Amino acid sequence: MKKAIYPGSFDPPTLGHMDIISRSAKMVDRLIVAVACNPSKRSLLSLDERVELLTDLTKQFSNIEVTSFTGLLVDFATEKRADIIIRGFRAISDFEYELQLAQVNTMLKADIETIFLVSDKDYLFLSSSIVKEVASFGGDVSKMVPKLAEQALIKKMGGKRG
Ligand code: COA
Repeated sequence: MKKAIYPGSFDPPTLGHMDIISRSAKMVDRLIVAVACNPSKRSLLSLDERVELLTDLTKQFSNIEVTSFTGLLVDFATEKRADIIIRGFRAISDFEYELQLAQVNTMLKADIETIFLVSDKDYLFLSSSIVKEVASFGGDVSKMVPKLAEQALIKKMGGKRG
């Protein structure tokens, strides 16, 4: 049974994330979408809000579980008996950071493999920060995030919309 983890901050989940999630879910038997509690990033949506949002967004997939984690990703993977980490790869600027993550994770747990999926060309420019910036000025993010995430952002930002 192939079990993989797709970790990230997902603050908020974007259409780029959803693309990686749906493609990964077809490749493995079970996919755990893991929302990281990352103290070095100030988040807009709480951990629970992100888990709830992703649970709603993935409810049509029978092989996806959404949860949060704290601590090391490899420890979480061991606890969940997953040996594959999925990461999306957008542009060459992702390369060094992703290489570092993948190598440190393999150094910590040798039998864990990181698989990179190349982002869909429509989402190469996307990041959660860009989405938050556009939304904070009332810009239209409907082509960047799923409807539910757009609604959550608007609600969080006090209903501002351009
Ligand atoms: N489409 C759109 N945006 C994408 C994307 C995609 N396919 N893939 C990544 N991104 C964006 C995210 O929106 C995020 O944007 P932001 O920086 O503006 O918030 C950015 O790329 C970073 O991606 P994300 O996947 O959220 O990574 P992260 O750096 O926030 O977290 C973890 C990476 C959680 C996997 C990593 O920090 C981790 O494993 N933490 C646990 C602690 C640990 O084990 N550390 C040791 C490993 S080195």
